[in-house]
Amino acid sequence: MRATARACANIAFIKYWGTADAELNLPLNGSLSMALAGLTTTTTVAFSAERGEDSARLNGAELVGPALDRVSRHLDRLRTLAGVRGAALVDSRASFPLGAGLASSASAFAALTLAGSVALGLRLEERELSRMARLGSGSASRSVPGGFAEWLAGGDEESFAHRLAPPEHWELWDVIALVDERPKAISSLEGHRLAPSSPFLPARLERVPSRLAQVRRAVLERDFALLAELSEEEALELHLVAMSSRPGLLYWQPGTVEVLHEVRRLRAQGLPVFFTIDAGANVHCLTPAEHRRELEERLSELSLVARLLSSPPGPGARLLEGPEPEG
Ligand code: PMV
Repeated sequence: MRATARACANIAFIKYWGTADAELNLPLNGSLSMALAGLTTTTTVAFSAERGEDSARLNGAELVGPALDRVSRHLDRLRTLAGVRGAALVDSRASFPLGAGLASSASAFAALTLAGSVALGLRLEERELSRMARLGSGSASRSVPGGFAEWLAGGDEESFAHRLAPPEHWELWDVIALVDERPKAISSLEGHRLAPSSPFLPARLERVPSRLAQVRRAVLERDFALLAELSEEEALELHLVAMSSRPGLLYWQPGTVEVLHEVRRLRAQGLPVFFTIDAGANVHCLTPAEHRRELEERLSELSLVARLLSSPPGPGARLLEGPEPEG
């Protein structure tokens, strides 16, 4: 009744912002991301035969209140599926700063879903694992298949992520410029809830399907220039919607703007690079593998960049320890 799993965070080129059903985490639009090999969460789940309270640790600290409730509610979904009632002990470690717009909930809920389901004796297919991970945190659905993954919008049964291409398909590096490592003040859950209050959300939803189709093609054909143009457009549009919600959400810090301008400057000088930003201040700067060092050098010279985290594409959620699959 015990298993350990590891999952990567992911960076979305087409983003999830706003839900059609907040309880089921059904997105208003499809999204597409790259898993990040260097940003992982490793989680062990052990169930006891006894009923009782769940407990969970994250990086050694005991979770309490709403954070623990969120984990417990997710385990309840798995317990219901398995018809098992025992209390769980969860021990989770992240290799990167939490809550700083680096999709820590994506790797956390993907790892929790895999470890929890295997510990309960469930053998879920990837599609079902992704659907279950979605119920914990929407973007976690994309961390289950890993690599370059697309999460489909639709009803409960159809809304899961599948792998468009494996991590080896394209060695893009994500050099993340950390300008603020504090946990963000407004969670993405709150951002999804507020999205419909932006007068620009309908315009965004009209534009996203064709942009998603083009980004899918850019990834499959390794068309860097197309991916760059559309990803920046997408990131700015998400923040336009966030800033124009009521109340307006301002995730950017001075360092964010410094990096955005530097990325555009570097590209004008011939370095292939583009930016994207999730619900936080830190900026993801993507470049082909051969330009990674130069990009790191240039970004580390900026006055408001505290440090960099760099990662190539990563794999899907995987089991590190647990009962062997049957058959
Ligand atoms: O999965 P959530 O609820 O943490 O939402 C993620 C939202 C963004 O990171 C901003 C976009 C995305 O698709 O990852």
